[in-house]
Amino acid sequence: MRGNARRAAPDRETVVKVRPVRRADLPAVIALDATVTGLHKADYWQRIYRRYGQAGEGLRHFLVATCDGEVAGFVIGEVRDWEFGSPPCGWLFAIDVDPRWREHGLGAKLLAALRECFEHVGVDMLRTMLHVDNTLILSFFRSQGMTAGKLLPLELPIGPGA
Ligand SMILES: CC(C)(COP(=O)(O)OP(=O)(O)OC[C@H]1O[C@@H](n2cnc3c(N)ncnc32)[C@H](O)[C@@H]1OP(=O)(O)O)[C@@H](O)C(=O)NCCC(=O)NCCS
Repeated sequence: MRGNARRAAPDRETVVKVRPVRRADLPAVIALDATVTGLHKADYWQRIYRRYGQAGEGLRHFLVATCDGEVAGFVIGEVRDWEFGSPPCGWLFAIDVDPRWREHGLGAKLLAALRECFEHVGVDMLRTMLHVDNTLILSFFRSQGMTAGKLLPLELPIGPGA
């Protein structure tokens, strides 16, 4: 065990599913995000739902993992094409699993489902970006076969405070 407060491992009777998000899932998603980030961002999640949770022609995906019908994790991603000359690729930009359900394979299931969505529309590269200090998510992505890519993020403080 690696330190999270955990439930007993899902047993054979626990039904784990990954499916597209529904509007009724939003309160659980908002609560889960708040437990991870400490911020209750209801407006942000309404916008994300409108953009990624509704028909996106197979290019935008917002999936949830449920354990016995209860939301226990989510993943969000989209196909981005020809940014900086890069052929279409699948971008994962959010993944979270309820701390009570971690280390039970839900993160791997969510990533695999998003990958399938991207493969379905012919995309052959999956990308993500993470904070250099987030060793948990780095360990997770590495365990799923992801390695350092060739794109380098650059940044510049702008605005009145710069
Ligand atoms: C990263 C995260 C999604 C993993 O979800 P999970 O359901 O616990 O992952 P899984 O059970 O599918 O684990 C898959 C692999 O990831 C790695 N992993 C998972 N948790 C780990 C941990 N605490 N330490 C080290 N490696 C870990 C392991 O290699 C694991 O494989 P194993 O079980 O064979 O050892 C989850 O910990 C999480 O939501 N963390 C917070 C995410 C976050 O910071 N989000 C904000 C930025 S988008």
